[in-house]
This record gives sequence, structure tokens and C-alpha cells, in this order.
Amino acid sequence: AGLLTLSVSGAFAGTEGCDPGEMVIKFSHIVNTDKHPKGIAATLLVNRVNTEMDGTACMEVYPNATLYNDDQVLEAMLQGDVQLAAPSLSKFESFTKQFRIFDLPFMFKNMEAVDAFQASDTGQAMKEGMVRRGLLGLEFWHNGMKQITANRPLVLPEDVAGLKMRVQPAEVIIEQMRALNANPQPLAFPEVYGALQTGVVDGQQNTWSNIYGQKFHEVQDGATETNHLLLDYMVVTSVDWWESLDADVRDQFATILHEVTVARNGESERVNQEAKEGILAAGGVVRTLTPEQRQAWVDAMKPVWKMFEADVGADNIAAAQDFNA
Ligand code: LMR
Repeated sequence: AGLLTLSVSGAFAGTEGCDPGEMVIKFSHIVNTDKHPKGIAATLLVNRVNTEMDGTACMEVYPNATLYNDDQVLEAMLQGDVQLAAPSLSKFESFTKQFRIFDLPFMFKNMEAVDAFQASDTGQAMKEGMVRRGLLGLEFWHNGMKQITANRPLVLPEDVAGLKMRVQPAEVIIEQMRALNANPQPLAFPEVYGALQTGVVDGQQNTWSNIYGQKFHEVQDGATETNHLLLDYMVVTSVDWWESLDADVRDQFATILHEVTVARNGESERVNQEAKEGILAAGGVVRTLTPEQRQAWVDAMKPVWKMFEADVGADNIAAAQDFNA
């Protein structure tokens, strides 16, 4: 790839433009490139592909929702307009209900348990669960555990009652907020900061890296360290595109992607801890919970499991719980 076709709009990062004859792989995501586990992984991926597959393939990464929002990108992928995306598992609702297990509150005690579940036969089979809908999962990418923030102090679940809380547009998360007697407001990620700032919503829940990366701490009273939900992604492509690749090209790309996945998933907790420190350094408030206070959040949200047991399978819940032991 040469230097000539540097993006006119400056919208995409990590590529110097594609040479004629190179296969273009567009990767659209919605977060920043350097302080977010997904953004950092995407940057590493584009750099490796454009070096190691130079002359064959050329990747263009469009971060910060400059190309598509998560609610548009999967349709665009099926149209062939984008080849790679990594939406959160909560955003596949219209394609599969299997991923709902990842949105159940307090399902996984830490990222090791998430890793173990995803590496199991059940987890690996989920990557192919949307094939008949035209999508193929390639890898799980980690962010981490979500914390809850609002424009007032939150210590106990009662403190969220009546608040308008931004959620990702996913049934489980909507019910999880209802279990707290809050008023769930589905909103696209790029709209959250403005909605918090103007009081359209009172609060939201996200990982440290998203709170810090989007500066939510600047427009919230504080964040409460609940670690109550997982935020994880699936790197996804279209079955049509994947099958159109020459086997050796596909293998080389899959190998690079897998190596990037292993390397960056292993760093995701560190990225989030650094973001938490960044929030504190910027004067943001982080509230920690006593074991009794935390248990009150567990008790308030755990009933949501029963509501979705039929969707995700009682056996899968049991399998996930085994990894918490
Ligand atoms: C969200 O919408 O809060 C997350 O999916 C953002 C992200 O990290 O992709």
C-alpha cells in the first residue's frame, strides 16, 4: 500500500491507503483507537494485515462510528459494504438470542470465567450460530465488566429507582434495568454523552474504558464499582465474503486475527484499570461497595436470569456457572 490515497475525510485510521489490486477489508467500529480494548485491537489488526498481507489485502478501519453505528453495521455487512465489525454481544438481538447469556447480570465472576466459557464447545459453537442469517463469528474480543453511573450517588439498588438509564438496545439489559425499577432508555453509543449532559438520561452503565473514553465521568456524579455486567464483542464477517476468499488468504487473515485476539484479550483488564485511574486522576468519583452492598445489587438483578432461561438454556447457564467455581 502506498501513501497516495490517504483518506480524504480523515475518517479512517491505521491505513495508508490501498494499492490497486489489493482486496479491501473495511472494518467499522464505534470506539476510539487508542484507549479502548476494541480500538487498540483493531489498530494492531490493521497494522499487521497491512504489513504482512501487503499486495494481497488492505484493511481500512473506521473508528468512532464514522462509517456505521452498531445498529446499522450488520445490515451493511450483509449488503457487502463492510467486511468486518465487532459489535457488543448485546447488539446481535435481531440475529440470535443465544448471546443473551452474556448479558445476564452477574453471570461471570471475572474475565477468566468468560474466557473458559467462550473456549468451551458451547462458546465456540456460538460463533456459527448466525450462519444461516449470513453472519459468521470469527473471534470474541473482550472489553470487561460494566460499572453503573448516574447524576447522583448510587450505593444501593434503590438509588437507581425512577432514574432514566441509557441501555444498549437489548431485551436482557432492558429487563435488568427494570429489575432495578429504573426507566431503561435504549440509545446508540455516540449519543450517550450528549444525553447525559443535557439530562435526557440520568445515568448509564459501561466499562471503565468506555466511561473514560467517552468522558462520561465529566457529566455524571460518579461511578459505582458493581462489575455487574459483561461487555464483550464478537468480531463478525459475512458468510458470503468469507467464502469468497482464497483458502490461503483466508487462513493467513484468520491466523493474524487469532493472534491479535489472544494478545489483546490478555490486556483488556489492564486497559480498563488504566481508564479507571484516568477517571480518578481527572477528578472523577469512583464508589466501591462493601460485600453487603454488592449483595443487594446481586439480589435485585438475579431474578432476570429466570426470565431468559428458555432463550439461553438452563444447561448453558449451569455450564457458565461451573466456570465461576
Ligand atoms: C455501548 O454501546 O455501550 C458499547 O457497545 C460500546 C462499545 O464498546 O462498543
